[in-house]
Amino acid sequence: MLSLKEKYQDYFKIGCCVSAKTVETHADLITTHFNSITCENEMKYISVCNERDNYRFKRADRIVSFAREHHIPLRGHTFVWHNQTPDFIFERGDKEEALETLREHIIMMHDRYGKDTYCWDVVNEAIEDKSDEYLRDTPWRRLVGDYYMDDAFRIAKEIMPEQQLFYNDYNEIEPFKMHKIIRAVTDMKERGIPIDGVGLQCHFKYNNPNYDKLKRAIELYAATGLRLQITEMDVSMFANHDESKPIKPDAGRLEQQAKTYDNCFKVFREYKDVIDCVTLWGIADDVNWLDNFPVENRKNWPLLFDEEHKPKEALLRILDF
Ligand code: GLA
Repeated sequence: MLSLKEKYQDYFKIGCCVSAKTVETHADLITTHFNSITCENEMKYISVCNERDNYRFKRADRIVSFAREHHIPLRGHTFVWHNQTPDFIFERGDKEEALETLREHIIMMHDRYGKDTYCWDVVNEAIEDKSDEYLRDTPWRRLVGDYYMDDAFRIAKEIMPEQQLFYNDYNEIEPFKMHKIIRAVTDMKERGIPIDGVGLQCHFKYNNPNYDKLKRAIELYAATGLRLQITEMDVSMFANHDESKPIKPDAGRLEQQAKTYDNCFKVFREYKDVIDCVTLWGIADDVNWLDNFPVENRKNWPLLFDEEHKPKEALLRILDF
């Protein structure tokens, strides 16, 4: 069997998110199948710096040394977000000071990992889900103002001109949100803000999206002229509001999940000219964030390898073309 990264070498990079632990427990799968990695949490602001001037790099360093050893480039994730961001940035209520703190943070990350990363999610999830609002209400926006994304991209570009800079979000193919994301990134691009790409998280469900829906969305994103990456793909075995807790995956749903992966990768392959990387949000079904979200302590099976690290039907389908 060809590995994922070999099978897709003429299309795009295949990535996965990792932790300081999974680079040990899942090392074989990572090095065999993936040629891009994202730190699931370890490079987020609060993970490296939770108090002013107090940086701790141990867990990110662990991942980066694995990446260096195996020559795997990293997607940087993430600078400006409403979650996992330390409060001290906003405490004094001083806009210029907050932006200066962000600048120092980006310098710090770039000095340490600039040779290892090839792109960064500069802003994560700034668009509101509710239909009657545009931007999400966040500490960054409240302090810096509605154009805080401009500042973040400008600062990042100045410090790391060689990195591709991304805006990253979820619910990105649902029309109620997609049009707002497209408006935001197009608007920035037209005003000369140095944004290079859009990260489509692609947290999907076993029976959604279908081929046509995803294709329409990718076409609209591609039309912005920005580069695209699929940044956090997984395919949950549960629909919204389903709170059941089965102890093993349902065979019919596994089949639908395989179809969904297959449909999505068909579309991704069609748009290989604009998609540079497809990242899965995890490696195998034994460890993944959906085991605790949105239902706590409920096993999910959203990835391409099973709990024993064996290929699932979904993997076989996306390798078969
Ligand atoms: C969002 C973030 C990720 C991660 C997931 C859950 O999608 O971008 O960093 O926190 O939620 O794992």
